[in-house]
Amino acid sequence: MDFIHLEEIDSTNKYAKENITQIPDGTVVYADKQTAGRGRLNRKWDYTGCDNIYASIVLKPSKRYKDCYSNLTQLLCLVLCQTFEEYGITPKIKWPNDIQINKKKISGILAEAVMGEGELKGIVLGFGINLNTTQDILDKINQPATSLNIEIGKTVDKKEFLNKLTEKFCLLYNKFLEDGFLLIKDDYIRRAGFLKQEVTVRLPDKDTCGIAEGVTDTGALILKDKNNKEQILLIGDIL
Ligand code: BTN
Repeated sequence: MDFIHLEEIDSTNKYAKENITQIPDGTVVYADKQTAGRGRLNRKWDYTGCDNIYASIVLKPSKRYKDCYSNLTQLLCLVLCQTFEEYGITPKIKWPNDIQINKKKISGILAEAVMGEGELKGIVLGFGINLNTTQDILDKINQPATSLNIEIGKTVDKKEFLNKLTEKFCLLYNKFLEDGFLLIKDDYIRRAGFLKQEVTVRLPDKDTCGIAEGVTDTGALILKDKNNKEQILLIGDIL
């Protein structure tokens, strides 16, 4: 993968979307400082120092949107977990693509598709990673959070982490476009921290509660409500 390194930007996702035509397929845009980072559910993504990762992968798999593109966040989520594991920690996935350690968030993903003239211009897979942060900065985030340096007790080289991550992503990417979520289902489920638990899921129009029973072959969440009625959720976020 090629890299575009920015010293400061409002949001790497916004930058990637605005420059989608010029940015080649398979490019990683990353910034030392992000001043208006955005997260899922209209949240913001805080800037927590220049030794953390604020990055967006630009992908241009085809001009027509295919269903499996919505699972690319789960592919990235798995690859992030595998990279963290190389540093000796055991992260857990919160469906669909949050990564936690002991219920504290260490990384989040925001995917955006860019459409234009009736075709798919590209997909922007944005991710933020708490790589090297201090506890007092983390305490100011509005949800429990941790950082890789705190978990392993030493500073982590940002470029080395990004290289490991993107190498792993590339190894799986082409096959993933053919096979979809099924390619990674077992590896994803092995790291799932939400199964058989009571969860609340935020849907676009409401919240819904139930027991997370499983994940389908297409990456959807199987939720069973108190009347044992099953719901298959294609979009949403476990809160
Ligand atoms: C989330 O967990 O809510 C997703 C957070 C995604 C944050 C990253 S940081 C780099 C990229 N640029 C953004 O504005 N957001 C994503």
